[in-house]
Amino acid sequence: MEYCPTSPFWLGLLLPALLFFLLNRWKRTKLPPQPPAWPVIGNILDLGIMPHQNLHSFRAEHGPVTWLKLGSVNTMVIQSAQAAAEFFKGHDLAFADRKCPHALTALGYDQGSLAVGRYSGYWRALRRLCSAELLTTKRINERAHLRQKCVDSMIGYLEEEMAAKQVTTEQGIDLSRFLFLLAFNVVGNMVLSRDLLDPKSKDGAEFYDAMNRFMEWAGKPNVADFMPWLKWLDPQGIKASMAKDMGRAMKIAEGFVKERLEERKLRGEMGTTNDFLDALLDYEGDGKEGPRKISSQNVNIIILEMFFAGSETTSSTIEWAMAELLRQPESMKKVKYEIDQVVGLTRKLEENDTEKMPFLQAVVKETLRLHPPLPLLIPRNALKETNFMGFDIPKDTQVFVNAWGIGRDPDAWEDPLAFKPERFLGSNTDFKGQNFELIPFGSGRRMCIGLSLAHRVLHLGLATLLYHFNWELGGGLTPETLDMRERIGITLRKLHPLKVVPKKRGV
Ligand code: HEM
Repeated sequence: MEYCPTSPFWLGLLLPALLFFLLNRWKRTKLPPQPPAWPVIGNILDLGIMPHQNLHSFRAEHGPVTWLKLGSVNTMVIQSAQAAAEFFKGHDLAFADRKCPHALTALGYDQGSLAVGRYSGYWRALRRLCSAELLTTKRINERAHLRQKCVDSMIGYLEEEMAAKQVTTEQGIDLSRFLFLLAFNVVGNMVLSRDLLDPKSKDGAEFYDAMNRFMEWAGKPNVADFMPWLKWLDPQGIKASMAKDMGRAMKIAEGFVKERLEERKLRGEMGTTNDFLDALLDYEGDGKEGPRKISSQNVNIIILEMFFAGSETTSSTIEWAMAELLRQPESMKKVKYEIDQVVGLTRKLEENDTEKMPFLQAVVKETLRLHPPLPLLIPRNALKETNFMGFDIPKDTQVFVNAWGIGRDPDAWEDPLAFKPERFLGSNTDFKGQNFELIPFGSGRRMCIGLSLAHRVLHLGLATLLYHFNWELGGGLTPETLDMRERIGITLRKLHPLKVVPKKRGV
């Protein structure tokens, strides 16, 4: 028979075949529900300027697992505590890889990084080393005096500023600046045993400036992340700018490492691992997995990363906690009362005092529930095609876990939008990666490596601020008019930095 595609015979044959093919394809790749998408850009516009908020708003219509096409990048979003439990308990390995932002491929950063590095032998070896240095209680306890020193310096800087400027309620001071210095100095002491904020350290000030810029570039939305074929063009120039500032920071870090190598030569055989940098330099792999030594380029990258990952996360959390407490005078009263009960008024507050402060701990948890600094965690990547909750997730799918939305999951939390530290009193719910309704540090293999350190700094930093000063809102604000809107960069911060007036308590 002659072939004529519009003849009833051929139509009758072709249409069912086409239908069968399409149905079969649809059945084979069952994807999670997706909001309507535009050609080429897909769902990029749906992200808006507050992706975590917009994604959370899809949950009611599309359910706890959402599918997005961001330009050409397949993306799955986990939006409920129950879906997060399935993800981390059942599929952590399949999604243990990262999708690295284009900006962080500058100067080979991704090749040396723990946070955005691919799931590999190098990553596993580095993770083991960092866990031993940063996560073990013994190592963390050994450095309590360093954290105390950094917190004391912050209180000193605050007092100096108050004395120099005669701060009034109208002006107030920008608390975030002091908190960032605290967090930055803690990492400096843990990693390099250095006070980078010592006014005499020129390198310290320059490093601080370069790192600040590095973080700004890392937080900028980049078209190249959605349209990988544009990467070569670097359309917004973000990777080039990142390379410049990262290069500056790396050069200074290199100087710190060189100095340490000289010191170690002088120490000779007496040299033992004293801090994180020593541990990196002393590393010797068995050659089975990961490198035998960590290259000097990668040592620099890992140093930068600790500042990058540990500074803004910690400081923005304390800023949010202070803002919430200033909005809720009852909670402020309770936490101050608890601190005074434990410490009294005649001695200095110490880190281990905070272990006896359940309300303070509840304030920190409640703050991280409502204001996780990394609201979508750090994007994961599917190592292989995986069946997740009945959906067929293709290899190389990017995964956002909406920790911000999960902290507001109405199935997991009563009155989810209210700041109520009391909800944690007498409850075992914690943020250590086992309670999936509270995952500001993530969970599973890629969970935050700085959790123990952050835990100590958050409690000590917040408690000390509350112990030393009485606080009032600056800028003419009241608890009712305090603006709690958000701004997203590398972390989720307050749109308007918190302006406060500290009044010394005479302790
Ligand atoms: C309030 C403070 C902090 C918060 C909320 C936080 C949160 C997170 C989150 C959500 C992740 C990704 C987890 C995942 O994918 O499951 C992460 C990873 C990481 N964090 Fe933190 N972090 C904090 C402090 C720190 C500190 C102080 C350091 C180190 C000095 C640090 C170093 C890292 C590193 C290196 C990773 C990458 C781990 C990996 O991919 O294997 N973080 N953090």
